[in-house]
Amino acid sequence: MLTRIINGKVWIKDQIVERDIIIEGVKIKKIIKKTEGEQVDRIIDAKGDLILPGLIDAHAHLRDGNLSYKEDFSSGTRAAIAGGFTLVIDMPNTNPPVSNSQRLIERKTLAHGRIYCDVGFLVMPTDFSKITQLSKSGCLGFKVYTHRVFEDANFSEGERLRSLFKEAMKTNRPISIHAEDPKKIHKLPESYDAEEHSKAHPKGAEIEMIKEIIKVASDFPIKVRICHISTAEGLQLFVESKRYNSNLFSEVTPAHLALETSILRKVGKLAVVEPPIREFKDVLALRKGVWDGAIDVIGTDHAPHTLTEKLADKPSSGFPGFETAVPILFTLAKGGFLPLSNVVKALTEGPAKLYGLIEYGSIDKDKVANLTFIKFVPEYLIDSSKSYSKAKFSPFNGFKAEAIVTRTIVRGETVFTSEDGVIDLKNGKIVER
Ligand code: NCD
Ligand code: ZN
Repeated sequence: MLTRIINGKVWIKDQIVERDIIIEGVKIKKIIKKTEGEQVDRIIDAKGDLILPGLIDAHAHLRDGNLSYKEDFSSGTRAAIAGGFTLVIDMPNTNPPVSNSQRLIERKTLAHGRIYCDVGFLVMPTDFSKITQLSKSGCLGFKVYTHRVFEDANFSEGERLRSLFKEAMKTNRPISIHAEDPKKIHKLPESYDAEEHSKAHPKGAEIEMIKEIIKVASDFPIKVRICHISTAEGLQLFVESKRYNSNLFSEVTPAHLALETSILRKVGKLAVVEPPIREFKDVLALRKGVWDGAIDVIGTDHAPHTLTEKLADKPSSGFPGFETAVPILFTLAKGGFLPLSNVVKALTEGPAKLYGLIEYGSIDKDKVANLTFIKFVPEYLIDSSKSYSKAKFSPFNGFKAEAIVTRTIVRGETVFTSEDGVIDLKNGKIVER
């Protein structure tokens, strides 16, 4: 099957060019001039939309298993393609956690035949002596939480991190870290609100743990992603260290780039997230980081929960993010608050480079035919009740936006259009290394 995409403004090597894309099966066959002839089976008219490499979300919680009441592979990947994401990287803090080969294999079996976009998996290792075997069971990398203990996975101490780095290094797969020092997180009462939660997770907790990670990372030649950096000081430490350690990767979320503490009063517990939403000066520092090219990855941290869990005495932290990422980020870019080019890179090239996914992250011959079409539109209001996620709430509900995803193509097939919504084609594949 040969497909020609016409009338697109195509993102190629950081430039927007008027070219046609020829897709053969699941791959991009070539990029040609509009005037060039080519015999094809079907034509997709992009109608002047921006065509980006399929967006990659390197920070997604698809849940399923015992948490399928929050989200499952089907609902999660439907929300992903509606948000323009064609590859999402799933986090291992599931129930049970993905902490060994058997659990990883079970998780892949669970995903099989149910995913609407490509999915890669991260694991949370506990027995480091089996880490090589674990990586060979098909994970893209490792993810650890320094602030919270999952079963026997405890990474709050530098020494434990150090032994992980030592063993993980042998697998040539990156380590991603949620950086908050538990010694600096305050104990919360039986019932608390968003502002109390925020105060309990002070900036110092993130800053101290980033210092520790940078120190450990400098001794091992392995890629490290510091997830969802939220503080100006944390980013500053990262930027200084990156000068002498190119293995360090930074990640920020759309929420930490767009929201500041006043949202906690506006939407209350819905905005509870770890690390918490920070002050405007931190938001500005993170945005400056995107301008400077210091941000390698923008990950949504799509973290669905039920509304009851969000509004409970002890609210669950995190909120969905797949479907609000493009509207929020591209609207900020249109307004001149973020550079479009670096936003696109951090959603495509950046994550592809982190995970060594050479077939992803750019529009070029022989790449997987994953594409995201985006259009700038007159102002509209984000409506989270229309989400494909099981979690139909968002701190961004009611926000003004000026960009939408118009079409998502996964492995050569259209799986979402803004007119028809999600198309019932489970075209995703599990991505391994
Ligand atoms: C995430 C979740 O719900 O799984 N929550 C969050 O507040 N970010 C976990 C995480 O990424 O830390
Ligand atoms: Zn996290």
